[in-house]
Amino acid sequence: MLRQFRPQRSLAKQPISRLLAAWQEPSRSYSIHANAASTAKIQDIDPSKLTITKTKAPKELIPASELVFGRSFTDHMLSIEWTASEGWLAPRITPYQNLSLDPASCVFHYAFECFEGMKAYKDSNGKVRLFRPTKNMERMNKSSARIALPTFDQAAMIKLISQFSQMEERFIPSTKGYSLYLRPTMIGTQKTLGVGPPGSALLYVIASPVGPYYPTGFKAISLEATNYAVRAWPGGVGDKKLGANYAPCIVPQLEAAKRGFHQNLWLFGEEEFVTEVGTMNMFAAIKNKETGQKELITAPLDGTILEGVTRDCVLSLAREKLVPEGWKVLERKYTMKELSEAAQEGRLLEAFGAGTAAIVSPIRNICWKGDMVDCGLRPEEEAGELASKMKNWIEARQYGDEEHEWSYTVPE
Ligand code: COI
Repeated sequence: MLRQFRPQRSLAKQPISRLLAAWQEPSRSYSIHANAASTAKIQDIDPSKLTITKTKAPKELIPASELVFGRSFTDHMLSIEWTASEGWLAPRITPYQNLSLDPASCVFHYAFECFEGMKAYKDSNGKVRLFRPTKNMERMNKSSARIALPTFDQAAMIKLISQFSQMEERFIPSTKGYSLYLRPTMIGTQKTLGVGPPGSALLYVIASPVGPYYPTGFKAISLEATNYAVRAWPGGVGDKKLGANYAPCIVPQLEAAKRGFHQNLWLFGEEEFVTEVGTMNMFAAIKNKETGQKELITAPLDGTILEGVTRDCVLSLAREKLVPEGWKVLERKYTMKELSEAAQEGRLLEAFGAGTAAIVSPIRNICWKGDMVDCGLRPEEEAGELASKMKNWIEARQYGDEEHEWSYTVPE
């Protein structure tokens, strides 16, 4: 009977002489390595194998008003190791702890890293809820596959994240605007400077109790339109949640900050298409020049735009609630010139960013080529009508005030 060749160790770890021998004498490889000869399906994530080791030193809770985004973490972490030969090993919840990695681990050299940002909420009955977790797991699999990291069973991972969130329940603030930010992360752990697909990986989830993303709270931000640096490009990986997309944006952010701006508005190409704002998707509400119809516009998912979960929420809610009021919802390319003209003609009604961390972030103005493009807020206003409505509509579903399929109640 023909048996499938399944190397016991990753190919990259095997000496060349052994690999050559395997090619020349395949029958010998099959017969002398029992595991290698196994036809067993490579193991996917199995929540029933979860082991839990509880911390002996529970942390003190930080008062909600003192929380700083992503600075403090819960008592535990969830980790699942993967090897090319065995697949996903047994999941573990352990006390939150440092990782021990070989300095040659491929994550440190070739940026084998992707992550997700999602949140757990406490509803008015004290129940823990995840918001659209399937969207995050789908996107994480797309990100990991793009950088040759392993993919996983999404339902199994949601089950584990639910158990983990329930276990960390005491860290979830009940106050509106507060939640537990979950950070699923995958890294390539194989010890090699060779450039190739990682033969081993680690998927882990840490959790941080959070309040409003910006220390200023729900306040309008000022942007610098950035055309000298590019966040993403056609055929690149700007639509994936890779750590490697974020680090190169920090220097332009610091440059913008030096000139007094909170974030960059990322433009692309000679046409200066508007793409994203900081780490968020960008939305503009404009009155159409010809028809006078109100339009909510965002850039299309052309491979340069992150498939934001909040972006999807804003679009769905706009189609559900604004279209019946006469709005048009458009996913199309638009330029900085278009925004500037609309502002000059009093047709730029509002602009805001949308992302998991901030949910909705209203924009006051955009500095473009030395001019200030006013985004329609009155001086005393911190958010436009649309941004405020969107935030409220989304939060109602996140906290379970409005029962909706986007909210997943974690079993106790
Ligand atoms: C978001 O806005 O949701 C983000 O992705 C920000 C995160 C990188 C902190």
